[in-house]
Amino acid sequence: MSESTNKQKEKILVTSALPYANGSIHLGHLVGYIQTDTWVRLQRMLGTECYFICGDDAHGTPVMLRAEAEGVTAETLIDKMRHQHLEDFKGFNIKFDYYHSTHSDENRELVIEIYQRLKKADLIEKRSIEQLYDPKRKMFLPDRFIKGDCPKCHEPDQYGDGCEKCHTIYTPMDLINPFSTISGATPIIKKTEHLFFKLSTCEDTLKNWMQGNLGTFKQEKNKESKQPLQGESINKLDEWFESGLRDWDISRDAPYFGFPIPDEKDKFFYVWLDAPVGYMASFKKFCELTGKANFDDFWNADSPHKLYHFIGKDILYFHALFWPAVLSKANYRTPDKLFVHGFLTINGRKMSKSRGTFINARAYLDIKALNPEYLRYYYAAKLGNKSEDIDINLKDFVFRVNSNLVGKYANIASRTAGFIHKLFAGKLCRSLSNEASSLLQTFIDEAKTIENFYQQRQFNEAIRVIMNLADKANEYISDKKPWDISKKISLQADDNNQEDDKDRNKLHEICTVSINAFRLLTLFLKPVIPVIAEKVEKFLNIESLDWQQHSALLLNHKINKYKHLVSRIEDKHIDELIEVNRKAMNEITETSKKQTETSDATTISFEDFAKIDLRVAKIINAEHVEGADKLLKLTLDIGDVQKQVFAGIKSAYQPEQLIGRHTVMVANLAPRKMRFGVSEGMVLAAGPGGKDIWILQLDEGAKPGMKVQ
Ligand code: 2FM
Ligand code: ZN
Repeated sequence: MSESTNKQKEKILVTSALPYANGSIHLGHLVGYIQTDTWVRLQRMLGTECYFICGDDAHGTPVMLRAEAEGVTAETLIDKMRHQHLEDFKGFNIKFDYYHSTHSDENRELVIEIYQRLKKADLIEKRSIEQLYDPKRKMFLPDRFIKGDCPKCHEPDQYGDGCEKCHTIYTPMDLINPFSTISGATPIIKKTEHLFFKLSTCEDTLKNWMQGNLGTFKQEKNKESKQPLQGESINKLDEWFESGLRDWDISRDAPYFGFPIPDEKDKFFYVWLDAPVGYMASFKKFCELTGKANFDDFWNADSPHKLYHFIGKDILYFHALFWPAVLSKANYRTPDKLFVHGFLTINGRKMSKSRGTFINARAYLDIKALNPEYLRYYYAAKLGNKSEDIDINLKDFVFRVNSNLVGKYANIASRTAGFIHKLFAGKLCRSLSNEASSLLQTFIDEAKTIENFYQQRQFNEAIRVIMNLADKANEYISDKKPWDISKKISLQADDNNQEDDKDRNKLHEICTVSINAFRLLTLFLKPVIPVIAEKVEKFLNIESLDWQQHSALLLNHKINKYKHLVSRIEDKHIDELIEVNRKAMNEITETSKKQTETSDATTISFEDFAKIDLRVAKIINAEHVEGADKLLKLTLDIGDVQKQVFAGIKSAYQPEQLIGRHTVMVANLAPRKMRFGVSEGMVLAAGPGGKDIWILQLDEGAKPGMKVQ
């Protein structure tokens, strides 16, 4: 207890890795978010002041290209994705204090400030480099957008950084027959100037940080715990030191979606420079909006508070080398801990689109039988504090949820709550026998062990102890057979004898013990299954399960009627999940295939062209659309029919300028359901957008409905 009280003073800023804005959240991502959320929830229950910050990682080439392919601005895309991500996180009860975006004013200001500080410290250098360039798309190519044949085993279609078949590591320039995955063109080598952060000068700084000799750790006594890294991560860093630290390329040439670099032309900060700064930006916005914490107190070099990052092992390099080096050299505090988790495998194998196991968070949430907290529970039951991969075996998932959560845990309340209402007006008994108290004491005695396991992120161990206690509670109930006693009582109901009183008291005690055991188990599980725990709080008729009050038993206390808490899942629900997910994946693949096909095509056949039904259209009405920033609703006369089209030309035309004009429309485009109605075609226009849009105009004489060919 005294340790918990001390912790009241400790303040912790916790982050989860910022997800990229170019993709959906899948079950693999959720390992990290669920792990962090569970840990943070425990801190809150212990009364620790703890802030949980995250946001979208919005910049980079993939976001830029996806926005282009979808025909929207990058800002529109990242806005849409941020909302989607937030919905998914909410669905899994992941509760951030603030969720920002790296494409924000706060982030821009911080990134620029950090850059200026590094520049002032002479840690930024401009160098001329050679890079592969797509002459057709007119852009430098990031490694992942170049493919070709492996230079060693000649396997075709390999990415620019290494061969998936023979595992040789190489650079894109080594590929045989390289091609740009954006346009299909053969890349050329082109010179350009890039900015580098002199990471090679930071080895001592990083080694000091690794030993826990930077920042707040100086104050801690325990040598072991002051190190920010787990054993596996330390080994990795040692390897990287051994092969020598190389300076870090922090700039990218236009076109790029990112923050422009001050005093440079057409140069942008590389997404990985501004991504972790997003942690700071998100916290800054949180401080500004809520006034709950002070940004400088947490981020100044001498901050007394803790900074913990939960990340996946694939991004250790960025968080353990660049990030502490940049922070320290820019005179900010450094991270106190990097908690690194492994990847998720499904049924023992990498997640795979073809096997249908690349499962999106949304697909899971769409299957109503799959309570999101089942996944939280399963992950907790699997997660230790090493950066080992964890496996979700779908059969084992069904089994564990049914046998542990439904069969063991919820069963304790459902077996006994009914008697409390039927026979004791919903009230628990006033006092307990020694035997009953001592059983509950064994639960209370485990609280510290469970707390420590959670603290150390050994959630699997915490769950093991909790489920052992659930077994104990069930054994107690099975042993005492409350249902038999209840039958006896109803048979003796009229006799009103002493035996009856004894039985009633016995039954009352058994049920009271069970409900108290259930209360303690729920309290222990609350960081993992917070919404189920909330329902239990209502059932127990208490405000909130409080870790620090765990030993206070519920006696002489009225509880509410027990409502069904959790249901069994069946194999068919998993089949349904795989099917729903596969369909959603196919749709995404189809759309992106179509987009790639369109962007890759240089010529089309005459037959292709002939498929497009172009018609002269008279605009007989044009009007604004409520709630749409960019669209005008046009009614077009094409001879025998009228069509309704939503055209993105509002920035260039007023409706009255358009009425009566003749233009050209695609009349056989599949109707598209939009938020504002169905659009039945497209009018043709030229120009880059904004005010510069010009719809096609026809010479006098062209009549509505005439074919354009
Ligand atoms: O790997 C990723 O998904 C990155 N978007 C993580 C960024 S974490 C932080 F540095 F922003
Ligand atoms: Zn190879």
